[in-house]
Amino acid sequence: MSNIDHTVNIDLQERSYPILIGSGLLADASLFSDKLPYRHILVVSNETVAPLYLDTLKTALGNRLVEQVVLPDGEQHKTMEVMNRIFDTLMNGRFGRDCCVLALGGGVVGDMAGFAAASYQRGVAFVQVPTTLLAQVDSSVGGKTGVNHALGKNMIGAFHQPTAVVIDSDALQTLPDRELSAGLAEIIKYGFIRDADFLQWLEENMSSLLARSKPELTHAIKRSCEIKAEIVAADEYEHGVRAYLNFGHTFGHAIETSQGYGNWLHGEAVAAGMSMALTMSARLGWLDNTEVARGLAIIRSANLPVEPPPEMTTDTFLELMSRDKKVREGRIRLVLLKAIGDAIVSTDYDDNHLSATIKQCLPDHTA
Ligand code: NAD
Ligand code: GLY
Repeated sequence: MSNIDHTVNIDLQERSYPILIGSGLLADASLFSDKLPYRHILVVSNETVAPLYLDTLKTALGNRLVEQVVLPDGEQHKTMEVMNRIFDTLMNGRFGRDCCVLALGGGVVGDMAGFAAASYQRGVAFVQVPTTLLAQVDSSVGGKTGVNHALGKNMIGAFHQPTAVVIDSDALQTLPDRELSAGLAEIIKYGFIRDADFLQWLEENMSSLLARSKPELTHAIKRSCEIKAEIVAADEYEHGVRAYLNFGHTFGHAIETSQGYGNWLHGEAVAAGMSMALTMSARLGWLDNTEVARGLAIIRSANLPVEPPPEMTTDTFLELMSRDKKVREGRIRLVLLKAIGDAIVSTDYDDNHLSATIKQCLPDHTA
């Protein structure tokens, strides 16, 4: 008897997989024996998550050949150099093409383990067991994997879908408050881009989410995964609607890069970036000031920033944004809102509006 509360399926033909959500799943031996038919498994984790959950997971994985690699913790370690440790362990352990790489941790571990699985012997099976809220609602789903380069975030990577995502909501009880809020940023994003009713639900339930109430957290995780699954199924390789998931990210990546990886959390940078995207949408006449104020209030209510760091300038923003992966023919592609719950991608805007938006959003309004 398994503890799965919800299953969200992601429909990608032969690459389809289930997202299993529930309480106590990390210890659920029957789930792992049903859903993970692999004999040789490499668990990739980090030095923070492994002491908390690795033994429980290994017990649940039962009687198979399970090895582990424990990476240093932090976005600054999301590099090719650190990823090589995964390859070293796979090679030294003589892992074959029928092995499975299992990521136990947040988005950093998941992105690196996934990229290692995508490239080891040209691709082996990959399972995500995300332990941060951000990873549970976003990074573990959809198959984007990779590492950072000194000149740009997530610049080196591959699409490689997992064969299953196992989300144990209990893991969130040990998550630091700041990381919980960072995950809420991506959840709020789904409301902005796709589901105005969900955004309203988030407004009404934010205090329960911050208090880590399990029913509300489970609902937020499930609804977020449903939205992400629907978007990824429609556009796996980001030729169209998948770009909506980058709402706030082009501004946010500029913040992360300018601050040095790890100083601003990804979710915090996305939160400030979404505030900027809301402001730009209003400048283009698509949102009114009340809607922007409402959007900023939701972001603030999750204890997230709505302004970029004070030392950034309009020029640094424009320079860093122009290096983003989403630039097309020299134009920065922005995800904006036509209305709450209705995103669009635009390159067809007046550059003066972009500069003015950045200036308006900077804390002292002068840079
Ligand atoms: P993270 O992986 O750095 O985890 C945040 C912190 O929480 C770390 O210190 C980690 O060790 C710790 N932690 C993890 N689980 C814990 C638990 N249950 N209890 C206590 N501590 C725990 O950060 P993140 O926010 O999970 O992920 C951010 C990364 O994800 C970024 O690199 C970002 O680029 C990437 N990302 C990828 C995608 C994608 O589609 N692949 C989407 C969004 C973000
Ligand atoms: N986080 C953006 C995406 O998965 O496409």
